Amino acid sequence: MGIAMAERNVSSLAVITRKSLFFLFIVASTLFILSWVFVLRSTGSPRFIDHKLLPNSKLNAAIGSRSSGSESQKDVEPSTGNRAILVDNEEEEKPSSSSQEKEASQANNGVGCNTDEKVVLKVFMYDLPPEFHFGLLNWKPQGRSVWPDFHTKIPAYPGGLNLQHSIEYWLTLDLLASELPNPPNARAAMRVRNASEADIIFIPFFSSLSYNRFSKRNPHQKKSSNKVLQDKLVEYVTAQKEWKRSGGRDHLIVAHHPNSLLDARMSLWPATFILSDFGRYPPNVANVEKDVIAPYKHVIKSYANDSSTFDSRPTLLYFQGAIYRKDGGFVRQELFYLLQDEKDVHFTFGSVQKDGINKASQGMHTSKFCLNIAGDTPSSNRLFDAIASHCVPVIISDDIELPYEDVLDYSEFCIFVRTRDALKQNFLVNLTRNIGRDEWTQMWKKLQEVQKFYEFQFPSREGDAVQMIWQAVARRVPAIRMKLHKSRRFSRTVSRKETGLSRIPSPSNFW
Ligand SMILES: *[C@@H]1O[C@H](CO)[C@@H](O)[C@H](O)[C@H]1NC(C)=O
Ligand SMILES: *[C@@H]1O[C@H](CO)[C@@H](O)[C@H](O)[C@H]1NC(C)=O
Ligand SMILES: *[C@@H]1O[C@H](CO)[C@@H](O)[C@H](O)[C@H]1NC(C)=O
Repeated sequence: MGIAMAERNVSSLAVITRKSLFFLFIVASTLFILSWVFVLRSTGSPRFIDHKLLPNSKLNAAIGSRSSGSESQKDVEPSTGNRAILVDNEEEEKPSSSSQEKEASQANNGVGCNTDEKVVLKVFMYDLPPEFHFGLLNWKPQGRSVWPDFHTKIPAYPGGLNLQHSIEYWLTLDLLASELPNPPNARAAMRVRNASEADIIFIPFFSSLSYNRFSKRNPHQKKSSNKVLQDKLVEYVTAQKEWKRSGGRDHLIVAHHPNSLLDARMSLWPATFILSDFGRYPPNVANVEKDVIAPYKHVIKSYANDSSTFDSRPTLLYFQGAIYRKDGGFVRQELFYLLQDEKDVHFTFGSVQKDGINKASQGMHTSKFCLNIAGDTPSSNRLFDAIASHCVPVIISDDIELPYEDVLDYSEFCIFVRTRDALKQNFLVNLTRNIGRDEWTQMWKKLQEVQKFYEFQFPSREGDAVQMIWQAVARRVPAIRMKLHKSRRFSRTVSRKETGLSRIPSPSNFW
């Protein structure tokens, strides 16, 4: 429309009035925007041309989500890059066919948390040298195996903050245990030795230990041990025939701490990551379509045999957390000023370490609601502390991602509050005071049901976090296969010189 009018206007430009100048401005802007759209479209397809495009990824993701089907302009909102497919549900409720379809496909999926049909994920695990895994726990190999002998002693994971992110440790133990003569009963995944038979290829790198314990640089070192190890890992993994065969698309690696795979992730990004959230990831490196969100391992004791009631938990709202946080810090401070004088509200700053853990357990066990406010990343381990304490989580984190949300409806046991609402005078206190005994008790009961989904333990038990994560990975497998098969379409014509099928993806058909 603007273009046609512009053409008509060209001849009458002789008389320059203020009106026509304004008009020109509008036309010029429109043309400028349109030309950008064309430029972006032509560079954005195929979706990932080159690694170099990665840093500019938000735009790519936006275009990607457009070309993958949805025409709605809302989907192109760049600020939600990692979560592109979630944007639909953000503002408007569309209860019609699409959500029903989703439910139907979920029901047919067969890997929900309460189906009888058991799908066992077949996992090929690299025999990485011990320096990448148990060696980080000072374990030394005896004999030729790179893995500890389960009949003697399993190296323990140390306590402290990194334990929250210890996901890869529990997954690795579970795979190793699947090869024991009498493997534990809970079994959503098993190790296979033939990579051609595997659904997924696991890279057992203990990123949570490498990051936390070895990321400090000694004065005489050029790079920290963590960086050196990540470089070695990339070199090792990308040299394997399994990686070359798929370009890494069918690989799986844990990077639960947001900084834990900072270096390697720029090379290993075709793989599926297990993450806590997408807070610090460019959308091409990590996104909801490709990756799996895992819970933190909670630091507060589970509330066993919880016989508390609505009335026996005197505190209405509980929050304890760090006062200074980079991005989310201001929300925490604003909420502190809003809530500090409310009676029944416990709001203090301080980290939950050392002797603080007992106090925090006490606090969460005696509160009806527990606040989870975004910190420097959207997720935090406090949510899982609240769940373990059966303290109904009130989540104030607009970009949070939740584990297993495709099979679990968090609204049944969590309250979600948009940040802009939470910052309104009286909003939170009013909201929580208006949730009565019955409604609260229902959520409390649900918390007791779901609590086991967030427990990491060895041996793993039916329906615990280890099993739930493997099942979540299993639900990614069809999409991974699809991506892989599509990538192979032209493999014959591309590498004709090599006899037969060379399945190494060339850069031009990589994605
Ligand atoms: C691995 O599995 C593939 C596919 O099932 C099979 O063709 C191949 O012979 C197997 N390799 C070995 C060493 O068993
Ligand atoms: C919880 O109750 C069960 C049986 O009712 C008991 O065996 C167990 O020791 C109790 N756990 C705790 C932590 O009190
Ligand atoms: C508190 O909640 C009640 C019921 O939901 C509502 O009618 C009232 O306007 C709210 N008050 C404030 C100050 O938000």
